[in-house]
Amino acid sequence: MSTDEMRAVGFHEHGDIDQLELLSVPRPQPGPEEVLVDVKAAALNHQDLIAVRELDHYIPDYPFWGGGGTAGVVAECGERVEDWAPGDRVVVNPALSCDQCEFCLQGEQSMCAVYEVFGEHRKGGFAEYIPVPQENLLTVPDDYDLQTAAAAPMAAGTAWRALADRARVRPDDDVLIVGATGGVGSYAVQFATKVLNARTLYGTTSSEEKAAFLRDLGVDHVINYTEEDFDSRIWELTDERGVDVCYNNVGGDTWVPSLRSLTHGGRLVLSGSTAGPNPVSELRLMFVRQLEIYGSTTHSRTEFETAMGFVFDGTVEPVVQEQLPLEEFERAFRMMDQRELFGKVVLTQD
Ligand SMILES: NC(=O)c1ccc[n+]([C@@H]2O[C@H](COP(=O)([O-])OP(=O)(O)OC[C@H]3O[C@@H](n4cnc5c(N)ncnc54)[C@H](OP(=O)(O)O)[C@@H]3O)[C@@H](O)[C@H]2O)c1
Ligand SMILES: [Zn+2]
Repeated sequence: MSTDEMRAVGFHEHGDIDQLELLSVPRPQPGPEEVLVDVKAAALNHQDLIAVRELDHYIPDYPFWGGGGTAGVVAECGERVEDWAPGDRVVVNPALSCDQCEFCLQGEQSMCAVYEVFGEHRKGGFAEYIPVPQENLLTVPDDYDLQTAAAAPMAAGTAWRALADRARVRPDDDVLIVGATGGVGSYAVQFATKVLNARTLYGTTSSEEKAAFLRDLGVDHVINYTEEDFDSRIWELTDERGVDVCYNNVGGDTWVPSLRSLTHGGRLVLSGSTAGPNPVSELRLMFVRQLEIYGSTTHSRTEFETAMGFVFDGTVEPVVQEQLPLEEFERAFRMMDQRELFGKVVLTQD
């Protein structure tokens, strides 16, 4: 391969995992205020699966590749970049905002009018190189490995915003996490227990093996929803009170049981709809119990830095189930699709 070319795991057409291929594509150049990052590791996020399947309205041009969780080494800097130099070890904040609209000026970058994320609107880290705006980089400490760092950016920031700033979890809150074993879920569990000190933590999952993993991670009561209705079990476990906060990343059939699991004035925070975006709802429950519903999307710049701070100081530990070389992308995607994952799978490059 010439030095003008690089490898990328991308697709020309939407469809399914078998559309993904190892491509040879032009190596990008950094813009004047961008840094070209030599990617060492990129974690899968569920959005990477969604992107190949259905996100065609966002994609600027093809081939397209995902990768919202990226870590690497600075290879080249644009002419107006002052704070970074070749060789710096960095992690990429996947959230791209204008820094000028009313929301950005309030520090709410994920509400930006022209908000984008790497892997969904812009080509991500499933490639040898990625050009990144200089303000989207964060230093990875020398003693922290890049493969573990890559598992954090998208998922940890999303979980932190949802629980800390949208649902405002407090130490006397009982919290339920629906979809607790996934990438976002495994950070949510740790933020709820180790940082926000939730009183009791409940989590749902689909198998006994995953249930054991969640208990080890710190969930007080794990509910296997393939064996029992999780809302009935929450009702029993809380003496018919319900929980204060439910964090739901799944949507679909879990929506109504999530509403039913909440106590009066309970808060439901939602940042994904893996099982479907158009569930039936229960309006009476919402007004009779006076529930609060919060949408949440990735993170502001401050939330990203706060979440990554908890990762880098060891307060929360990314759960990396497997690291695979980039060429083994298909296995990584199938692990995620078949729900074999505890936490994350990371694609690595030398
Ligand atoms: N709004 C945002 O900014 C943002 C940011 C990050 C992620 N997200 C969204 O959040 C969701 C979770 O992302 P992730 O990366 O954490 O995904 P993930 O690692 O694939 O985890 C998803 C988990 O949800 C559970 N699940 C329950 N029902 C499911 C179903 N029908 N299909 C698939 N999984 C199901 C599975 O665990 P069990 O088998 O244990 O139930 C699975 O491990 C995705 O929809 C993603 O697009 C949104
Ligand atoms: Zn903006």
